[in-house]
Amino acid sequence: MAKYSVNDCPIIDLGKITGERRGSITVVENDGTLPFDTKRVYYLYDVPGGSSRGAHAHRELSQLIVAASGSFQVTLDDGRVKRTFFLNRPYQGLLVRPGIWRDLDDFSSGAVCMVLASDVYVKEDYIRDYQEFLDYRKQL
Ligand code: TYD
Repeated sequence: MAKYSVNDCPIIDLGKITGERRGSITVVENDGTLPFDTKRVYYLYDVPGGSSRGAHAHRELSQLIVAASGSFQVTLDDGRVKRTFFLNRPYQGLLVRPGIWRDLDDFSSGAVCMVLASDVYVKEDYIRDYQEFLDYRKQL
């Protein structure tokens, strides 16, 4: 697996189709918009104010994190540099490359965090211990 840094994790503009007084649509297809094909979609919601999520890295998984509704903060960490992003636009997504630690917090009330993932759920792909994450980064 390549050794990605937080600078390899951009906000991707997904575009939107806005109907006159009828709202908007954003579409993501497996057409090269993302550097992976989506195999799984999941979403977080009902997150109580003051709670945090994430606190892990993935070995192989790539993800796009979208604030489908409301807002929240995502802090990415490559073991050397941390970058914090405020997500509140349903037509933008934060690309999270493999081997990057992420913490999500500051959820607004009613926030929906939608995640497009490059693979199905694999428990063994998670690194949930921060020291183990740092050791993993060193051997990449
Ligand atoms: P986790 O990925 O740790 O959530 P977050 O990063 O948002 O805090 O997952 C929380 C729980 O849900 C954990 O027990 C694993 C389970 N889970 C699945 O069973 N399938 C999935 O696709 C995901 C994302 C989580």
